[in-house]
Amino acid sequence: MSNTILVGAQWGDEGKGKIIDFLTETADIVVRSQGGNNAGHTVITGGTKYVLHLIPSGILRPNKMCVIGNGVVVDPIAVATEIEGLRAQKIKVSKANLAISDCAHLVLPYHRLLDEQRELKKGKNKIGTTKRGIGPAYGDKAARVGLRIADLIQPALFSEKLALRIKENNAVLKAFGAKPLNFKEVNAAYLEAGAKLAPFVSNTVVLLHQALKAGKEILFEGAQGTFLDIDHGTYPYVTSSNTTAGGACTGSGVPPHRMDRVLGVMKAYTTRVGEGPFPTENMEFSDMLHGMGREFGATTGRARRCGWFDAVAVRYAGMINGIDDIAVTNLDGLDSLAKIKVCTHYKLARRTLEVPPSDFRDLTACKPVYTELPGWQTPTHEAKQWDDLPKNAQSYLRVIAELAGARLSIASVGPNRDQTIVL
Ligand code: GDP
Ligand code: IMO
Ligand code: MG
Repeated sequence: MSNTILVGAQWGDEGKGKIIDFLTETADIVVRSQGGNNAGHTVITGGTKYVLHLIPSGILRPNKMCVIGNGVVVDPIAVATEIEGLRAQKIKVSKANLAISDCAHLVLPYHRLLDEQRELKKGKNKIGTTKRGIGPAYGDKAARVGLRIADLIQPALFSEKLALRIKENNAVLKAFGAKPLNFKEVNAAYLEAGAKLAPFVSNTVVLLHQALKAGKEILFEGAQGTFLDIDHGTYPYVTSSNTTAGGACTGSGVPPHRMDRVLGVMKAYTTRVGEGPFPTENMEFSDMLHGMGREFGATTGRARRCGWFDAVAVRYAGMINGIDDIAVTNLDGLDSLAKIKVCTHYKLARRTLEVPPSDFRDLTACKPVYTELPGWQTPTHEAKQWDDLPKNAQSYLRVIAELAGARLSIASVGPNRDQTIVL
């Protein structure tokens, strides 16, 4: 009976979905507490690939309760479509295994359009968002003009509020030179989605506290990654939620003292999708991974930028999240290399830095200092236990765990459920 917060320790896409799915075997409840359908969590099991965006990855296992918490921003049409997609893949989704918080904020079409327009307007300074309307939706929440799931399931109230919001946002869209929204169309489509979601809606704080009381085990499924956090990430090249461990508490209503463990998921190298500083980025390494058909985004299909393992970043992630254990994924991505670089420090002008600078301009100016480790040049994807790994792969994992300052608890050597080594 222990509750685990799982966070991404890099810039997202660390393989959280795969690790969540693996850990769900022993959990009772899986909770998403932040982000929206900007997330794309891939799970491959029994030869089938699933990509989860809003629904917790725990849904793939029978008899596990999944919760979309109050801190998530929910696009009702996207979640209704995701439910239908899962059902088409023979996954059962009902109110017996999915609950959606009545306090979760809605992503509406004007959020998506504003996201798009702001990116266009920024030109070369764009963030490279997923264009899912995440920033504007969290913006409305903070400005206290957001609509919530509770509003959506009260049709008359929803229509009244939506009409006002569309009026205001159409004026803004007009100023951008974009096409205004038609209230009637949006209202009808969202009420239809609302009717589909209504059976799932409840006060999920109460549900989670009842589960805690009953001694159930809860797994908090982080979305995005530490350096996309609105406070601690490479601002403004971030998402709009707290992707770090604290977000699991505020986004679910489960208090900090009920959390037992924080698991940081990281790739054996680093990737980032979208714009913003990335000290260890390496074109040759990116080309190699893309050539293998790897590292294309699960949500937008964009090619991810790739680089060497950045211990400066993950050390800082360890601090912010209080990471106890780490899961290292995609070890097999390094299988063919003769030599592997690991960044241990940054140089900023004459200074040596142990933690990343807060300002993105300084981070952009940082030069990574590398240590070089020997590769193993042996396929690892069939390794089932620690002893099956080549010696140099074992040393590599030991070195990065030590640099990260946490205990290595899982190593992943392939995308499938069974390609997971537990230490
Ligand atoms: P998430 O957003 O953190 O859940 O990660 P994504 O699903 O967006 O991206 C991770 C990608 O790596 C997916 O394509 C996974 O199937 C894949 N993956 C996860 N772990 C491993 C691994 O150990 N080896 C390989 N080859 N692929 C992995
Ligand atoms: P998962 O959960 C990787 C990135 C976008 C962009 C920035 C802001 O799959 O790890 P947003 O649409 O959130 O306003 O975009 O954040 N981003 C992600 N990158 N993985 C994700 O989620 C991401 N969600 C958002 O590419 O740089
Ligand atoms: Mg992803």
